[in-house]
Amino acid sequence: MKLQLFIFLTYIVAVSAKYTANLNYRSPSEHHPFLGISLYKVARRNNPSVRYIDADQLNFTHGVASGDPYADSVILWTRCSPTYDNDKSNATVSGTVPLFNHDTQEYIQMSTAPVCVNYNVATDETMEDVVTSGTAYTTSDIDYTIKIEATGLEPFTRYYYQFNVCNSEKRSPVGRTKTAPVSKDEVPDVSIAVFSCSNYPFGFFNAFGNVARKDSVDYILHLGDFIYEYAEGAYGHGWSIGRIPEPNKEIRSLYDYRKRHASNRADLDAIASFGKFPWIPVWDDHEIADNIYRDGMAAQNNTEASFTQDDIENGGNGVSFDQRKMNAVRAYFEWMPIRQVEMDDNLRIWRSFSIGTLMDIIMLDTRNYDRSITDLYWNTDYIHEISNDAGRSLMGSRQENWFYNQLTQSKNRGAAWRLIGSQLVFSRENESLASGPENPFDYDAWDGYQANRNRTFQHLYNHKISNNIIMAGDSHLSWVSDLVWLDERPYDPTTGAGGIGVEFAGSAVSSPCPLGQNITMDTGIKASEWLVANNRELQWHDTYYRGYYELTVGYAGVEARYFGIPTLVQRTPLEVSLANFTVERDANALKRPVGGGVVASGALKEGKVAVGNVTNDTVTGAWSVHNLASFGYGQLVD
Ligand SMILES: [Fe+2]
Repeated sequence: MKLQLFIFLTYIVAVSAKYTANLNYRSPSEHHPFLGISLYKVARRNNPSVRYIDADQLNFTHGVASGDPYADSVILWTRCSPTYDNDKSNATVSGTVPLFNHDTQEYIQMSTAPVCVNYNVATDETMEDVVTSGTAYTTSDIDYTIKIEATGLEPFTRYYYQFNVCNSEKRSPVGRTKTAPVSKDEVPDVSIAVFSCSNYPFGFFNAFGNVARKDSVDYILHLGDFIYEYAEGAYGHGWSIGRIPEPNKEIRSLYDYRKRHASNRADLDAIASFGKFPWIPVWDDHEIADNIYRDGMAAQNNTEASFTQDDIENGGNGVSFDQRKMNAVRAYFEWMPIRQVEMDDNLRIWRSFSIGTLMDIIMLDTRNYDRSITDLYWNTDYIHEISNDAGRSLMGSRQENWFYNQLTQSKNRGAAWRLIGSQLVFSRENESLASGPENPFDYDAWDGYQANRNRTFQHLYNHKISNNIIMAGDSHLSWVSDLVWLDERPYDPTTGAGGIGVEFAGSAVSSPCPLGQNITMDTGIKASEWLVANNRELQWHDTYYRGYYELTVGYAGVEARYFGIPTLVQRTPLEVSLANFTVERDANALKRPVGGGVVASGALKEGKVAVGNVTNDTVTGAWSVHNLASFGYGQLVD
C-alpha cells in the first residue's frame, strides 16, 4: 500500500508540474488552494497521459493576447474551449467537456481529459524562426483560459506567437507583442495608447480598433472598467445594435464574471487590439461593481444584511460581498494578460514597469486593494466631512509606501519620466455646477481622500521628484491639468509655474459622459467651459467625445494626442483629432500656449476652440471632412 501511495503521489506531483505552466492554475492564490485552485484535485480528475479532448471539438474562441512586458519575458494568453454552456436553461453543447456538471449532464458527454495546447514564439510573422516554445493545459476549472510567461526573450524586441491544439493543425491566430527595454538602456521614443471604460451595450469598441489599424503605439494601457456589471438596460441599451451583454443579468457569480469578460472580449476591435499589442491593464470599480472599496460597494456592503438577505428574490445578492469580489478577481486574472506579481496576494495588481532610462510606468490600484470607505450615494455628506481625514487611504498603507518608494527609486535610477496609472482623476474636480455647492467635489475620486493626495504631493516636493505624468480614467470625461498642489504651493495658471507634472485623464471607449449618452456638442462645450473656468489647474476639458489618447514619450518631452470617436452605434474606422499637448522635460507643466492655442472640441483655458469635422480614416490613413451629423456611410472594417 505504501509503495502504491508513493507512486500515486509522485504521479500527482509530476502532473501538477505540467499544469503549472498555465499561470491561471496558480492564480490568484498559489499556496492557498482553498482560495484558489487545488492542482491536486485537478490532476486527480484529469489525466493527460490517457488522452486529450479532440482538436475538432475545440476552438480558440477569443483570439490571442499578450501583456505586462518585461525586458526578457512577456505574458501570452488565449482561450481554447469546447462549445458549451453550463446554464441549463440555454444549453448549447457540442462535443465533450472535461468538467462534470449536473446542470448539463443530460446534454453532454463527460471527459476526464484536459485541453492541451502548444505555443511558439518567433521573430517572424510566418512563425518560422521560433525562439521559444512549450506546452500548457487548460480545463473548465479556469474557464479554458491559457496564460503562460514566454521567457528568455531579447529586450525591446517585437515577437510573434501562436498556439495550437496538441498533436493537431488547429491553430490560433498569430499574435504580435513586444518586450520592454532593459532598465539601464537608452531607448528611442516610446508610444502608448491609454484607454478606460469600455461598456459593451453603449457601443462598439472602435477606439481599440483605431489604434490597431493605425499601428501607432508600442504598448496599450487600460485604466479599468473593461467590463461593467449591469444587466441590459440598467446602464446602456445594447439591443438595437446587437450588443446585449452576456449573461443578461447583474453579474455576481464566478460564472457570471467569466461570461461577461467573454462577452466583451468577443468585440472584434478588442480582439484586434489584444492580438497586436502588449496590454498593461488594471481594474477600476466595475470589474467588480459600482463604487467599490475595501469592504463593500454602492449596492452591497459587508454588513449582516449582506449575509442574511442573500436571496436575489428577497432583494439580496445571492452571494456575500467578499465572495462576489473574489469571483470577479479570479475571472479578471483568468481573462486578462496580466502578471500576478505576488502569487499569494490575490488582490494585488499594483506593479511597475521600467522602460529603459526613459520612464517608469507605475500602475496603481486606487479601488479594490485596501481603500477606505467611499461615496456610496447615501453617505455623500459623511464622506465629504471626512474627506481630509489623515487616516483615510485610497490604496492602503502597504501600497502607499510602495508607491512613494517607487517614485524615489525611479528618480534615483535616473529615469527621465514617471508615468503613473491611476483609475481615478487625481486633480481637484470642482463639479458643483452638477453636484451643488454642498458637496462640490467628486468624493469617489482622489477628492474624497485628500490626505492621501497631500502625502503624494509632499513626497514629490520633498524629494524633488519632477517630470511626473498622471494618467487617469473613470470619469468618462477628458481632463488635462497641470499637476499642482493647490492651497499649498504657488501656481500660475497662465505660465504653469509651480507645477510638478501634468495629468492626462481620458474619457471612455464607449461609456457615456455624466450628462447622458445623447448630449449635443453645444451642451458638452458649455459644461466644459464651466469646469475650465472653475478649476484653476484645468487647462483643457472635453465632455462630448468618447475616445482615448496616445502618449509619445521621448527624453526631451512627452507629446499627448487626444482622439474622439464620431459614433459608437456602428463599427467605424473614423476618428477626430481633438487636441494635442506637449510637456517639455523639467517644465513640470503643459507647454504654453496649451494645446498649441487651438483645439477641436471642449474648452481651453486660454486659446481657441475651432469645432471641426475633419476625420481620419484609420483604414486608409486619409483625412476628410465628414458630415458627422448624418453619419450614414455604414462602413464595416474586417
Ligand atoms: Fe467607467
